Amino acid sequence: MYDKNWAKVDLDNVPRMVTPAPGPKSHEMHARAAQYMKGYSSQVRLFPVVFESGHGCTLTDVDGNVYIDFSSGIYVTGLGHCHPKVTEAVQRAAGELMNAHDYTTPIKMRLLEKLADITMGEGRKKLSGMQLYDSGTTAVEAGLRLMRAATGKSEFISFHRDFHGKTMGAVGLARLDASQGLRAPGFFLAPRGYCYRCEFRQKYPDCDLLCVDYLRTIIREETAGRVAGIVLEPIQGWAGSVVPPDGWIRKIRALCDEYGILLMADEVLTCMARTGKMFAMQHWDTVPDVMTLGKGFGNGFPVTAMLVADQYKEVIEKISASTSYGGNPMACAAALASIEVIEEERLCERSAHLGEILLARMKQLEASSPIVGEARGLGCLLGLELVKDKATKEPFDLAGQLVYQKAFRKGLAWIPAGHILRMSPPLIMDDDLAMKALDIIEESIYETQRELG
Ligand SMILES: Cc1ncc(COP(=O)(O)O)c(C=O)c1O
Repeated sequence: MYDKNWAKVDLDNVPRMVTPAPGPKSHEMHARAAQYMKGYSSQVRLFPVVFESGHGCTLTDVDGNVYIDFSSGIYVTGLGHCHPKVTEAVQRAAGELMNAHDYTTPIKMRLLEKLADITMGEGRKKLSGMQLYDSGTTAVEAGLRLMRAATGKSEFISFHRDFHGKTMGAVGLARLDASQGLRAPGFFLAPRGYCYRCEFRQKYPDCDLLCVDYLRTIIREETAGRVAGIVLEPIQGWAGSVVPPDGWIRKIRALCDEYGILLMADEVLTCMARTGKMFAMQHWDTVPDVMTLGKGFGNGFPVTAMLVADQYKEVIEKISASTSYGGNPMACAAALASIEVIEEERLCERSAHLGEILLARMKQLEASSPIVGEARGLGCLLGLELVKDKATKEPFDLAGQLVYQKAFRKGLAWIPAGHILRMSPPLIMDDDLAMKALDIIEESIYETQRELG
């Protein structure tokens, strides 16, 4: 049993910036790596720090600066960096057996039984058909293959600004950039329930969720009427922690049932207590037919899953689960230990509580700052949308960049996305440390406001 206080920090010493960041060693090492590594994300391009270690809710860079972690390695390390139980489980597995292809191993058996224990649904709707993969995008691809095989149809509908991964099927579900070329035939995108920027210029709830009704138009006018699945992120991650209005997910579920379309919830980012429930779909009591898990599933170890309703178990037999790394013993050990920690440390409750206190303060910031258009989120999946003018809601990209960099320099590691700032603290964070992180964000916003006039 590990010390329950393993991740406690000395609040007076975190963050601790000993040199202006990114410091000289970071600059030197990043420049050496960047000679070869290309295509860095905006978070690195805007702040090319080199991290050396992580412990619980803090990160330390090669210059000795200590940061509050408000990104969890891009929504991954929800239990904190190097949680002793997960680290120990992976180390033990690495010393026993590293790979056994898709043979059953004792640890895989235990993980599958645990997942069956916590998964959603009852009877034929229970998500008890499972396959294990090594990245979110490959789990998403497996879900697409499954839905095609189960329905004998081949079209998919997904939503504006959702993100599902970088393989060719998954990119077809999302916004394309020039390098990705054409969307494959059979992929259609629909406006999403994003009330702050409603594409139909409606007001919720008076709109009666017109955006969901519009899916009927897409099915009738754009598809060949051969829609296998509707794919959605229950809460958007990349797009900036956009929580759909109540009723949105349930109305889509009803529409799927009416048309005989399968519903796939891509919970790669939202699973494992990130939003205050084990799975985000539980906020709306809605069981999808297919669900993908990733990121926090292994708390840093690459392990993902595709789950499907019991009624499609015969179909899933036809979708080969064999991959080189999916479900290897180290991966299974990491995932099993992570689920156990979430349960033992009651991290769903902790995530919901942190989300409540953080969002309450972020809403005050929304009210007082002329550039915070919307503060939003659920559990430890939070975001701030910056605008030039609250009436026109024009995105304020420069402010997003400056606030991100200023806060980072003060010791907050977090995630930019153009004019949106994303927050994904570890679920184990103490209230005081979370409040300290928000102090830094507030200061950085006020400084930016003054600077940009
Ligand atoms: C909702 C969602 N699905 C799928 C993916 C792809 O996961 P991976 O990067 O592990 O392939 C991501 C990654 O950010 C995601 O947020």
